[in-house]
Amino acid sequence: MALTISLVPQPVSIQYRQGLFQIKGLPPIQGDEVFHREIQVFKEQLQQNYGGIEAGAAAKIRCSKDLSLSPEAYRLSIEPETINLYAACGSGIYHGLQTLRQLILSEYRDGLLPLPCVNIEDHPRFGWRGFMLDTSRHFYTPDCIKNLLDALSLHHINRFHWHLTDDQGWRLPVPSYPLLTEIGSRRKNIKIPHHVYTGAGFYTEADIQDIVAYAQARHIEVIPEIDIPGHASAILACYPGLGCTGGPYQVEDRYGIFEDVLCAGNDAVFDFAAACFDALVTLFPSQYVHIGGDEVWFNRWNNCPKCQKRLAETGLSTARELQSWITVKLAKMLADRGKTAIGWDEVLEDTETYKLPKEVVVMSWRGSKGGIEASGLGHPVIMSPNSEGCYLDYKHYDAPEEPGNLGVSTVYQTYTMDPITPEMSNEAAALILGGQCNLWSELIYADRIAEYMTFPRICALSEGLWTPKELKDFDGFAQRLEVHQKRLDQMGLLQYRGYLGKTGKKRNN
Ligand code: ACM
Ligand code: ZN
Repeated sequence: MALTISLVPQPVSIQYRQGLFQIKGLPPIQGDEVFHREIQVFKEQLQQNYGGIEAGAAAKIRCSKDLSLSPEAYRLSIEPETINLYAACGSGIYHGLQTLRQLILSEYRDGLLPLPCVNIEDHPRFGWRGFMLDTSRHFYTPDCIKNLLDALSLHHINRFHWHLTDDQGWRLPVPSYPLLTEIGSRRKNIKIPHHVYTGAGFYTEADIQDIVAYAQARHIEVIPEIDIPGHASAILACYPGLGCTGGPYQVEDRYGIFEDVLCAGNDAVFDFAAACFDALVTLFPSQYVHIGGDEVWFNRWNNCPKCQKRLAETGLSTARELQSWITVKLAKMLADRGKTAIGWDEVLEDTETYKLPKEVVVMSWRGSKGGIEASGLGHPVIMSPNSEGCYLDYKHYDAPEEPGNLGVSTVYQTYTMDPITPEMSNEAAALILGGQCNLWSELIYADRIAEYMTFPRICALSEGLWTPKELKDFDGFAQRLEVHQKRLDQMGLLQYRGYLGKTGKKRNN
């Protein structure tokens, strides 16, 4: 039996005590009625790996309420006869149960569960611990998404940013715009070596409700993104009147950034956005809707009479500023629906005249500078810098045979990314909601590859966002990761296992 326990993320405090908790079989569990759902999910998770817990045996794990704890906090006390878990509400209990699930996955062997007696006190450093999945470039099945969410929740990841639309496929049903799913969800196959990359599919309302409920049961909030006004080829292929030239357009079967974007001079674009937002508000309970806003090219707006007319009306002088005018309108439309907009960091640009509304959350992806600027201006910020390990589509290691795209994100970079940077004042730092890793899927053409790109970088992110800064220790993490990756093996996840990136360019560490 391990004398010490290895957890990822590292808890706030672990105190070892005398004695052992030692039982045959898996510990039966019971708790306050309010924790019924969390206990049920935990049982199902054990069922998946071990075929479940014997009914009727006396409870060994007890879940109880302690209102003195903060919402995501938990206290776990492993004693010789019982395991007591305390939290103020379901999210704390869920996190505590995931810590126990980790211990069971690594210590339960040959029908025995021996654990050292310990007290664990735990709570997160940041409230936003996110993962984004691009379901446009690759259509991931609902089962694949659920499998990922379940594994993410083992690490207390609590936000799923669902990138539902892009040039290469629209995946969201919008009742008054049926062509989006009839035409916009299908593209020509993309050919990459040894693989025909099919891109057809969309999520039905029932699929979305099922995924949202599955995530909620794991205390993960699902934040939908529709990416406008750029990355709009799939929209334009269905409704060419929403573009500046009228087309023809196609759902893209190439990768890159495309000059055809939604026309800033056409009011019908806002009817379209309203219909999308109405659909999102019905399907997603989250307070947030991500409106994209990245990588908009302005060439079409420069040459479009309608866009030029809009420029004159709005008192703006350059086409690029029209994006700020659009962002302000979209944020207001969401506010009218009780939602808060999130945008990629481009929404900060060209905002001298049409200022970005204070409540708009900025997601910093082109390094940290957008997040530093935005928090300085009083915006809430989520840090997801591509230069600091947050892009999971980048290779784990700089080698030709590694899967991935565009760059390298090592586990070490992900671990050391700190959403609060030295440049930030205390007021700015207080606006940092947390951080996120993003899995773009241009080259991630199979569910198993998504797992390989995600693990163990998301384990590193979870510790970077959960564990107090003063306890962060990469070498300790790397040691615990050896135990932890065996847990993920037991869950059947494909993982990267090479060089973690702390020193030089060695292959093995
Ligand atoms: C992005 O990576 N274009 C947000
Ligand atoms: Zn136009």
